[in-house]
Parts: sequence; C-alpha cells; structure tokens
Amino acid sequence: MRSRWPSPLALVLVLVLGLDETWSLDLDRPNFVLMMVDDLGMGDLGCYGNKTLRTPHIDSLASDGVKLTHHIAAAPLCSPSRAAFQTGRYPVRTGVFGKGMGMVFIFNAASGGLPQTELTFASIAQKQGYETALIGKWHLGLSCENRSDHCHHPNKHGFKYFFGIPLTHLRDCLPGNGTVFKFHRYLPLKTLAAVVISTVLFCCFGYLRVPRFLVIGATLLAGFVACFLAAFLLLVPYMNCVLMRDGEIVEQPFSTLNLNRRMTREAVDFMERSAEKPFLLLVTYLQVHTALFASVEFTGSSSHGLYGDAVQEVDWSVGQILQTLERLGLSQNTLVYLTSDHGAHVEEVLPSGERHGGFNGIYKGGKSTNFEGGIRVPGLLRWPGKIPAGLEIDKPTSNMDVFPTVVQLSGHNCLRTE
Ligand SMILES: *[C@@H]1O[C@H](CO)[C@@H](O)[C@H](O)[C@H]1NC(C)=O
Ligand SMILES: *[C@@H]1O[C@H](CO)[C@@H](O)[C@H](O)[C@H]1NC(C)=O
Ligand SMILES: *[C@@H]1O[C@H](CO)[C@@H](O)[C@H](O)[C@H]1NC(C)=O
Repeated sequence: MRSRWPSPLALVLVLVLGLDETWSLDLDRPNFVLMMVDDLGMGDLGCYGNKTLRTPHIDSLASDGVKLTHHIAAAPLCSPSRAAFQTGRYPVRTGVFGKGMGMVFIFNAASGGLPQTELTFASIAQKQGYETALIGKWHLGLSCENRSDHCHHPNKHGFKYFFGIPLTHLRDCLPGNGTVFKFHRYLPLKTLAAVVISTVLFCCFGYLRVPRFLVIGATLLAGFVACFLAAFLLLVPYMNCVLMRDGEIVEQPFSTLNLNRRMTREAVDFMERSAEKPFLLLVTYLQVHTALFASVEFTGSSSHGLYGDAVQEVDWSVGQILQTLERLGLSQNTLVYLTSDHGAHVEEVLPSGERHGGFNGIYKGGKSTNFEGGIRVPGLLRWPGKIPAGLEIDKPTSNMDVFPTVVQLSGHNCLRTE
C-alpha cells in the first residue's frame, strides 16, 4: 500500500500546489504534532540564520525535514491568523477579522469567536477517529450568550482535550508589566487631574469664585473615573487571564511560574495516552508574547535578554515533544510542523530600553503591520522517510495549507464531496 505514495515530494506538493482531485493517498494515517509559537520572528531561529540564539531542537526539524522560506500567515495578528490556520479559510470568510484592536479578542467576555459553522482541521481529524488536543492558547472566542455556554470553546471545535488559555497572554496578566489598555492615549488623564486639583486648591484658598456645586461635581466625576479605571485594571487579570482544563477554570489569574513546563508535561501526557491511536496535537505556545516570562532554568540563558530566554525555553519544549515521539516509537509516523502566528512584534520595547520583541530578518515591519515582516513566518515540516531531509523550498506557502494537508492525510474526503 505504501508504494502508492507518489514521491517524497508528495506532501510538499500538497502544500505548494494545493490538492489535486485525482490524488488518493492510501497509507497509514500519520499522527500530527502541530506547533505554533506566539509572535516568534523568522530571524529568531538558528535554521533561518540567527547566530546568537540557540534553537537546536527547532533547527533539527529543518535538517531532518523541509524548511519553507516563503511561508505566510493569513494576517499579521493572532485571532484572524489562527482562525485561518485552523480552518484553511481567509479571515474575511470566517468573520474573525476587523480593524486595529478590533482584529483580536481582548476580553474573554466578548461574544464573538470562531463561528460554530466553521470546520477546523481538528474537527475533521476527530471525525476520522483521531484523538485530538489543544495545549496552549486559543484566542478564538469563548462564549456566545452567557459565560457558561462556551459556544466558541476549543472543545466545540474538534479538540477533545484542552489545557490552556481561552484568550491570549497579555501584559496585564503579570503584575508590574503594564497594560494593553492604553487609556492615557484616549483620555488626557494627567491634564484632567491637574485641572481638578488646581480648581479645588484655588477655590478652597479663595482665589477663585467658582460655585461650590461645580467644584464638588467635578471632583466627584474625576474621582469616579479614576476609581473606575483603577478597578478595571485590577480586574483585568481575573476577567482575562484564566487557565482552563476543558470547560473548567483551573487558575484565575494564571501563574506563569513553570507554565511552559506544565504545558509541555500536558503535551507529553497526551501523546503517551494516545500512542495507540492516531492523534492530532496542537501546541500553541504562550511565549514569546509579552509580558515575557521564562522559568528559572532559562532566565539568563541567552544573550538576548528575557526575550531570548523565552525563545530558548520554547526550543527546549519542542525538544521534549520530539524526544517523546522518539521514545514512543512514533517519529516515523508523525508529521511535525512548526510555525508562528505572524511576524515578530519588533517595536516591543520596555521603558528601560530592553527589547521585548523578536527579529524578522531582512523583512520590513512586524506584527500588526501590513509589511512583509507582519506575515512572513517560519515553516518547518518533518516526517522521516516521507518527506526529504534538509530540503529548502522557496515557493510561496501558507500556514493555511496545513488544513488541506490534515484533511487529506487523515483520510477525509470532504474536499471532494462537499
Ligand atoms: C447559558 O446559555 C445557554 C445557551 O443559550 C443556556 O442553555 C444556559 O441555560 C445558559 N446558562 C445560564 C447560567 O444562563
Ligand atoms: C513582570 O512580571 C514578573 C512576574 O510577575 C515580575 O517578576 C517583573 O518584575 C515584572 N516587571 C517587569 C518590568 O518585568
Ligand atoms: C537573533 O535574534 C535576536 C532576538 O530576536 C536578535 O536581536 C538578533 O539580531 C538575531 N541575530 C541574528 C544574527 O539574526
């Protein structure tokens, strides 16, 4: 049966040329281990030319498999890019699309999300008898009508098991790391405060004849706005930074202490308990999005500050996953893929001047810009014996191509019949 596999380049053809209707694969169905790193730049990886960050495990995917050098994400921001990745459809078609901040979900309480009518590669694989799991970040909505209907939850989109965060990692999730809610850009808070305080002072010391009700009114209003904003910022971690196991909240707000390790453990456990069946595992790392974190073992491990430490911790985790496949004897029968959701967030810099964003190599711009650097992503594929080792492909490919690849290889025929 295996002899019907047309050529070692077959998978690459699926990716590059799209699916041919006459194609029929008749082979053992592979497992899928798909990994997406958050905000990782192409220029951060050794296999794409970085000389100072150490990413040996990710680089091994390039030397043992295929490196795509013209790999594109469908959008320069998380939610639309992830919706497209999982459904193989452009963001405008799934409706997970918008302008500016409206492009991504920034509240768990938002009623939007990936519509239930959309098919993800996980729901296809699940229908084909695969064990499916998502470990990591979802960022495609949570509920529709109330906080418990979970209509957009990963469990409703083909992932039988979910451990991770329904939203995204945010600066607000780590105390002292700032906020993504930049009120000061829209409200001249300091000016308002200065006006209120000087009015009160002048009035109380009798320099100004302002009716008392105006002074009291202005003070109350300013106090109310200040309390509201402060309370809002204090509550954001409870509203948004939650860690879930399936439908249950397990930490609120979540702690980043050893979070990568805990998620890696979850991924390893899933592969161990699914080793006998075909499985699809999607690992979507919270790193290397700000607020940056790294476990003690990796803090200070790189020459690129906390950002580099986080990249190297992700690389360690990829190594653990590859080792697990090897230990379980599954390497030969597993298609491994690694990408990023979009380009690095190049302009992310702390007030202290430390860079907290990655590197997009020669490409201009980055995350949330419409330049090449916003959508160029790493694309690495490994399937020993099935796709060639060390091949580099510069044809344009997209991480949306993973959808038809999973559909075809999992034995589903929906593209032909629907
Ligand atoms: C939430 O919404 C779902 C679906 O509309 C409904 O079945 C459920 O009873 C609601 N739960 C609460 C607590 O309102
Ligand atoms: C960010 O959060 C971490 C973990 O809570 C904390 O150790 C650190 O001091 C915070 N501030 C900055 C500027 O990184
Ligand atoms: C490697 O990555 C770091 C972190 O993004 C970046 O600052 C540096 O410029 C990169 N180095 C090379 C040679 O690409």
